[in-house]
Amino acid sequence: MIHIAVLTKEVLEYLSPQKNENFIDCTIGEGGHSKLILEKTGPEGKILGIDADENQIKNCREILENYKERLVLANDSYANLQKIVEKENFEKISGILLDLGWSSNQLKESKRGFSFLKDEPLDMRYSLNQELTAEKIINGYPQKEIEKILQEYGEERYAKKIAENIAKERRAQNIKSALQLVKIIERSAPKNYQYAKIHCATRTFQALRIAVNKELENLEKVLPQAVSVLNGGGRIAVISFHSLEDRIVKNFLKEKENQKILKILTKKPAVGQSAEIKQNPRSRSAKLRAAIKL
Ligand SMILES: C[S@@+](CC[C@H](N)C(=O)[O-])C[C@H]1O[C@@H](n2cnc3c(N)ncnc32)[C@H](O)[C@@H]1O
Repeated sequence: MIHIAVLTKEVLEYLSPQKNENFIDCTIGEGGHSKLILEKTGPEGKILGIDADENQIKNCREILENYKERLVLANDSYANLQKIVEKENFEKISGILLDLGWSSNQLKESKRGFSFLKDEPLDMRYSLNQELTAEKIINGYPQKEIEKILQEYGEERYAKKIAENIAKERRAQNIKSALQLVKIIERSAPKNYQYAKIHCATRTFQALRIAVNKELENLEKVLPQAVSVLNGGGRIAVISFHSLEDRIVKNFLKEKENQKILKILTKKPAVGQSAEIKQNPRSRSAKLRAAIKL
């Protein structure tokens, strides 16, 4: 399943790639956005593409085969952006893109338990090199800690009850699969919650994924590094998918604008238009914020 890149028109508008310019795609995934940028930056413009997931790097190498002379790929976390840039000797950076979270093919095909609709092992790592998995959190963390994760990262109303039932269940048997966890969530919430607009496991799964991959910490780490490696006049664009991420991006850009380091280009975040949302439901919650380095 090919991931459909979101807000492509807006990414091009705000990053404004020109001939021979270099860009960094911190979340290259299947290269949807990068391909569009490469089309604008020929004949010499390069992209440094980063992804924590080795499979995504493999996929992207194949998908962007035609651009291989202008593409440098790094299987690493964007939290290490500065080091990666130094290692690859990547210079004169005109723009940086972050398209946060997971891609559709990870959800549908990675067999890592990202989806609450599939009976897969509770893994949820982007990078298989890291130790922490969702299973380790669910079976090993203190009940209170699990409750806090569900509350903070999922804004889950029934966090306390779900954490309590996880603790009860794991005393009897290890919780290993996504569907096992879904059943516990269903038992923990009132019936009407089960039939609400979003699936009752959505918030728990989001919270676990954020905790496993340290998504908010990594976002906080990458933003200052991105600004520091950008050329003067270079642009940064970040696409986020929930309010916790968006708040971090918004506050960071504001702080740097107050320090006269960045100028914000999106007074309000750019969001998906109805035609795009129809074709690609993932764009429904996407918000893009962008700024230019002074
Ligand atoms: C929404 S997808 C990007 C899709 C891409 N823009 C495209 O058009 O195909 C997000 C990607 O970021 C990667 N990712 C998540 N956290 C990461 C991190 N800390 N460092 C590097 N990549 C990360 C995921 O593995 C995933 O491939």
